[in-house]
Amino acid sequence: TAQLNDLAVRAGLKYFGTALGESAVNNDANYKRIVTNKSEFGQLVAENGQKWESTEPSRGSFNYASGDITANTAKASGQGIRCHTLVWHSQLPNWVSSGSWTKDTLTSVIDTHMSNVMGHYKGQCYAWDVVNEAINDDGTWRDSVFYRVFGTDFLPLSFKLAKKYDTNAKLYYNDYNLEYNGAKTNRAVEVVNIIQAAGAPIDGVGFQGHLIVGSTPSRANLATTLRRFTALGVEVAYTELDIRHSSMPPSSAAQVTQGNDYANVVGSCLDVAGCVGVTVWGFTDKYSWVPGTFNGAGDALIYDTNYNKKAAWTSVSSVLAAK
Ligand code: G3I
Repeated sequence: TAQLNDLAVRAGLKYFGTALGESAVNNDANYKRIVTNKSEFGQLVAENGQKWESTEPSRGSFNYASGDITANTAKASGQGIRCHTLVWHSQLPNWVSSGSWTKDTLTSVIDTHMSNVMGHYKGQCYAWDVVNEAINDDGTWRDSVFYRVFGTDFLPLSFKLAKKYDTNAKLYYNDYNLEYNGAKTNRAVEVVNIIQAAGAPIDGVGFQGHLIVGSTPSRANLATTLRRFTALGVEVAYTELDIRHSSMPPSSAAQVTQGNDYANVVGSCLDVAGCVGVTVWGFTDKYSWVPGTFNGAGDALIYDTNYNKKAAWTSVSSVLAAK
């Protein structure tokens, strides 16, 4: 049987990818065998290793041990990488989030961070998530050290700096719950407008795609939402797809619904010129952030805990093959 990245490329996408769990790949041979299969996953993204707390845990001291796990794994198997993430309120070390900064001093902190981290991975990243999750679910701006110091000026500022350090990487704004086309989505449109109006470069918007079985929008509605962004001249991608069951264990009917939901998401990407690829946020239910964050929820991925392909895997492969 054909595998997901091969099918995705044949269907006109650039890649089908997955997040790579740094500890899973080091400790679980079955995990490693699948995650390094280029026919299945053409692109990898570090689940945690490139975040600020990992790469610059204290000011000016850079560490790439964890981020390089993904970069080196991908290189060894001929896979690409997406890079994640530079300016984010979470997994941000205290020295940044609690510093008392002026615009000038915080600009220099961001500049130094980008110059080092983007310099280290230069030429390897298909895309960088330059700014991650700047919006609350109700559409208001998220409170963060970046927003407090700059207001929305941190958006164009971050993208301008990013362009200096890796001219070839696609520069993305990345967020979750954009799929519902509500107040948060409207604000994300404004993010793109603000960046473009300031003359700063933005190439893409990442739809994280942390969705819920039975509450995932239809293929047509998802495509409509993606097109709001491609109409602005940027590409789009699903960057962290997982679709969780809210009650566990899922019934077999719920497994079928999950498969349909996955097919709708992947299908919407196929329907939109300018949707370049799909990345799942891990592939096996053995390792996922979901149960730790949403009490009672789980089984959000396309392989089960024993590395068997689920109905969701089959749905994804069918929708890709049908294109
Ligand atoms: O590495 C430490 C380890 O040293 C320590 O002993 C252990 C004890 O808690 O924690 C480990 O760190 C954990 C880290 O994952 C690595 O496993 C953190 O506690 C845990 O909070 C962290 O969770 C990550 C989460 O982002 C944090 O925000 C998840 O793995 C990761 O899947 C998740 O990914 C995010 C995306 O980056 C952005 N979008 C949402 C998505 C899901 O939350």
